[in-house]
Amino acid sequence: MIQVKIPAIPAMTYPIIIGAHVIRGITKYLPKNTRNIVIITDKNVKKLFAQQLSKHLKKLGYKILIIAIQAGETAKNRDTKAAIETKMLENKLDRATVILALGGGVVGDIAGFVAATYMRGIAFIQIPTTLLAMVDSSIGGKTGIDTPQGKNLLGAFWQPKAVIANLDFLNSLPKQQLINGSIEALKMFLTHDKNSFTYAAKNLVALSEGKLNILKTIINNAIQIKAAVVARDPHELHERMTLNFGHTIGHALEFVAQYKILHGFAVALGILVEAKISQLSGLLTVEDYIIIQDVFKILGITSKQLKNYDINKIIAATKLDKKAKGQKVRYILLKNIGAVYQQEQQYAHVVTDSVVKKALLLVSGA
Ligand SMILES: NC(=O)c1ccc[n+]([C@@H]2O[C@H](COP(=O)([O-])OP(=O)(O)OC[C@H]3O[C@@H](n4cnc5c(N)ncnc54)[C@H](O)[C@@H]3O)[C@@H](O)[C@H]2O)c1
Ligand SMILES: [Zn+2]
Repeated sequence: MIQVKIPAIPAMTYPIIIGAHVIRGITKYLPKNTRNIVIITDKNVKKLFAQQLSKHLKKLGYKILIIAIQAGETAKNRDTKAAIETKMLENKLDRATVILALGGGVVGDIAGFVAATYMRGIAFIQIPTTLLAMVDSSIGGKTGIDTPQGKNLLGAFWQPKAVIANLDFLNSLPKQQLINGSIEALKMFLTHDKNSFTYAAKNLVALSEGKLNILKTIINNAIQIKAAVVARDPHELHERMTLNFGHTIGHALEFVAQYKILHGFAVALGILVEAKISQLSGLLTVEDYIIIQDVFKILGITSKQLKNYDINKIIAATKLDKKAKGQKVRYILLKNIGAVYQQEQQYAHVVTDSVVKKALLLVSGA
């Protein structure tokens, strides 16, 4: 027998730059000898920022191709990926090409996946333009697309060369999108950092109004948590699962609502239910649960919204969760605000359907 021994992949690091106008310094983060740049974006973001960025880079001597996909989750599919790749191939772009993923999480996920597979992998830079993408999806190297069988079922771990969070991009983001992103930040704080949670809770109104100084602190705090978790567990074998808090029920709700609910809003309701499960399991105190409930109320999210959905359908949809093993669905549970429950290195815990149902009934006030 002949053994193939591949040397361990060397550790890699990449910078995350956060601030006003930081996009101006982008060339510092391009690999040396970059000539060809593909800006992958969506149709909304193209008008807002891509053309301007392209002009700036052209002036500096780079060859630029802009590829703008349709805006929204439905574009995150195989056909769109193939169309992007065809354009890049037709333009004879080689391995030294750099992709800039300029947009929200949809653009980041699909552009990252193109980067992961084009000529077996090329460099890319994440330039998130939504709050959700700044605090969550642009960091950590998860890339992918949806199929009719489910969300994010095809993809790769492929890390960017840099993440540039240019805060002024958020000025044009609608309030609902700001709230959508702030929920992922709150998830990060609930599972890892009580002080950041308290700060965010106190500043939620300013945050949803897009106050940049508040946004900057919250983005900074969230990114620090995500970056540290990803460094400890890049491939989601253990601790990274904690960032799924609220998502088992959240994803089930999205499925039942046929994706007509924004992801963050579904996750917010998921957080309420999963916090209630944590309380019913004897982990989280009632006082902590009420604090969480009150914080979401400020964002206009109340548990009563759960009443719009059939509880049995939600429970059936939880079986599709990636953490499920057979019919046993596993949940991330909170020990208290700022910390998850962990037992013998395990972060995901089996919860019976009857406890989940009880939590759903209690939260919706049925
Ligand atoms: N890879 C990961 O780790 C990870 C983590 C969380 C979520 N995600 C993925 O992220 C996606 C959701 O991302 P999203 O919420 O950013 O959605 P999105 O990319 O669809 O953006 C939301 C909307 O905002 C518009 N937009 C973007 N930037 C704007 C700006 N600055 N001003 C005005 N409008 C702007 C877009 O055109 C779009 O219509 C999902 O596909 C989800 O699966 C990935
Ligand atoms: Zn999420």
